[in-house]
Amino acid sequence: MELPKRGLDRETLRATMCERKAQDADWHAARTFSLVYPANDEVDAILADANEMYLYENALNPLRFPSLRQMEVEVVSITKGLLHGPEEADGCMTSGGTESIIMAVKAARERARAERGVTEPTLVAPVSAHPAFGKAAHYLGLEHIQVPLGDDYRADVAAAARLLDERTALLVGSAPNYPFGTADPIPELAALAADRGISFHTDACLGGFMLPFYERLGEPVPPFDFRVPGVTTISADVHKYGYATKGASVVLHRDGDHLKSYQRFLYDRWPGGLYLSFAMAGARPAAPIAAAWAILNYLGEEGYVELAGQVRDAVRAFRGGIEAIPELEVVGDPVMSVFAFRAGEGSGVDTFAVGDAMDDKGWCLDRQHGPDALHLMLSPKHLTVADAFLADLRDAVAHHGPSRGKEARYS
Ligand SMILES: Cc1ncc(COP(=O)(O)O)c(C=O)c1O
Repeated sequence: MELPKRGLDRETLRATMCERKAQDADWHAARTFSLVYPANDEVDAILADANEMYLYENALNPLRFPSLRQMEVEVVSITKGLLHGPEEADGCMTSGGTESIIMAVKAARERARAERGVTEPTLVAPVSAHPAFGKAAHYLGLEHIQVPLGDDYRADVAAAARLLDERTALLVGSAPNYPFGTADPIPELAALAADRGISFHTDACLGGFMLPFYERLGEPVPPFDFRVPGVTTISADVHKYGYATKGASVVLHRDGDHLKSYQRFLYDRWPGGLYLSFAMAGARPAAPIAAAWAILNYLGEEGYVELAGQVRDAVRAFRGGIEAIPELEVVGDPVMSVFAFRAGEGSGVDTFAVGDAMDDKGWCLDRQHGPDALHLMLSPKHLTVADAFLADLRDAVAHHGPSRGKEARYS
């Protein structure tokens, strides 16, 4: 495409976008299970308002837009409260889980260099940890070492212990991880790190805004937050189970001074003036900050607990229904609303053929491998489609054809 010589009119633009959008995943109908976290129409309206109010502002300079600074401080403070950060904990907002993770890795690298003289740092993370850790290691010059999983699809603590040495800058655990929704043994891993003066990051990008409310519902929640000794940083995404529109995550340091000494970037060698920033971006969109602030305050604790209850009910329906199909099994013991399932060994059913049959029925299930499995991430809206999904799944298992290919697809 070339830049049109004469601009298109508003109606044509809208019609073209509508036509193209019709090919996208229909998340409104709750037939997709990743990427978008639909809650309900009221939440959508609040988010639309906040985005519209802050479309043009730039969060790079808090002096020009103090309202943004205040909202960011309050989002960080709310997150710190939910994750039981001590008084001195501090953090900042970023554009998403990946950026939060990159900043946590960067801070750990700086800390290891400053406090332990580490010049060739390693990052040790479970196989199931998000690719953002691989990306961070790649960008920031750390060697990325993977911890194998045990039979329970959680990081193997003894193996992790063997992989730590004087070069280790950061050890990681997920609460939960994306592929299986299992939570790593955070207390054991964090203790290994603390004993050696190594930073430990809990990746609660998925769990940060769900597990605290699961806990309030009385559901069993594994220890993962700052109540666990040795956890030095946590990432939690408001744009996942915080239900904000995309572009909103929080990275927190147990010791708030680390934010300034190891994460912050300050540049004073520029004629344009003093340049200060806490994460990767320069200019920062304001709308995600406003939307995150608005939705946290709109829902409040009661609203989040109610939505967590709906998600928990959806999990019971989906998981129970899947486990009731003799040929299928859930992988590991997922702690909340993200999990994988597959055809059991000896069932005679091909997992990906079931995925293909479900695609044909209009469901979008991500494929994954190690083991071959189909992936589900449930949001409040999924409760309304549980029966239809399970009926189609039973039919797909009974009547599946050959698989169209074993290639795993991740999104
Ligand atoms: C456990 C976990 N960590 C990190 C990320 C990365 O988050 P983002 O896609 O917002 O960069 C994800 C994304 O799904 C995730 O599930």
